[in-house]
Amino acid sequence: MSLIHVFLFASFGTLASLVMSRTIHGTAIVDKHEQWMDAYGRKYESNSEKERRLNIFKANLEYIESFNKVGNKSFKLGLNKFADMTHDEFIATHTGYKMLDNPKMSKPTSFLYENVSDTPSSFNWNDQGAVTPVKDQGNCGCCWAFSTVAAVEGIIKIHTGELISLSEQQLLDCSTNGINNGCGGGTMTDAFEYIIQNQGITTEESYPYEEEQGSCDMEKERKKAATISSYGTVPENDEEALLKAVANQPVSVGIDGSGQDFKFFQGGGVFSGECGNDQNHAVTIVGYGTSDEGVDYWVIKNSWGESWGENGFMRIQRGGLCGIAMHASYPLFN
Ligand SMILES: *[C@@H]1O[C@H](CO)[C@@H](O)[C@H](O)[C@H]1NC(C)=O
Ligand SMILES: *[C@@H]1O[C@H](CO)[C@@H](O)[C@H](O)[C@H]1NC(C)=O
Repeated sequence: MSLIHVFLFASFGTLASLVMSRTIHGTAIVDKHEQWMDAYGRKYESNSEKERRLNIFKANLEYIESFNKVGNKSFKLGLNKFADMTHDEFIATHTGYKMLDNPKMSKPTSFLYENVSDTPSSFNWNDQGAVTPVKDQGNCGCCWAFSTVAAVEGIIKIHTGELISLSEQQLLDCSTNGINNGCGGGTMTDAFEYIIQNQGITTEESYPYEEEQGSCDMEKERKKAATISSYGTVPENDEEALLKAVANQPVSVGIDGSGQDFKFFQGGGVFSGECGNDQNHAVTIVGYGTSDEGVDYWVIKNSWGESWGENGFMRIQRGGLCGIAMHASYPLFN
């Protein structure tokens, strides 16, 4: 075949598949997918891949539209950057909390805040300047590193007055203790233990995030910017205890982040969607309050970028939704 023939054949293939997908899916879906691809800078390697992604996009779009149409929840779902991913792809790349094999969480420790009595009715560590801008774990199952760092950033600000953005990459590369396994998942308690043993963690700036695990850079590892002395856990499924802890510092928690409603949460109200108790994701609770409709909520900081949820945060209904109170832990500084 001559070059010209190859070119014509390829063009014809593109045209044919475009016509085909327009017929199968209707122009509206195809156009929405194109617009979404533009908005999120998505490109596919081949037409067959594009067709496959269009099908996934279509299923997700239908779910989101029917959810919003029912409209009996105060929050909305939206087409975010996860709109062309299958459930399994999403779980494999954007979560990464290993709860089932985390023996440290079941070890009862004395609860530091058990005697705290007067907690404010609402509180947000964002207002205290103790929360760095929302970060993005990208395609790497290391939510555990982001959850750890956000909690450490908080306690450091509370005790030193300085808000320092700290390094998740250092945890990815160097905290391979316990069950921590880079993008393959890990736990906050093992990451706290690593920071204690290393006597510190460096800044985001000096050990920036790369979205994949590398070998531990020992020179950077030694440039410590902050440290913690120990960590504690909150009694399981005790939201009163959890509130006492959050009133004192941002707290790391495991959560079920795998549901469609959670994944496509776009804000506009307190999250109260379908959710399980499978602890596959980790976030940081940075506050709590009560909505105008009288719904008590937690404020969580996620690591899926600022385009997810309410500028990267979610207000989630209190009452154990998504297993949020099952495994909570916090770093200490003295
Ligand atoms: C609200 O929506 C849920 C599905 O999300 C449905 O199960 C429930 O029946 C709806 N309630 C009302 C009052 O429409
Ligand atoms: C809470 O108070 C009880 C009774 O005074 C005391 O035994 C316990 O040690 C206190 N707990 C903490 C963490 O300070």
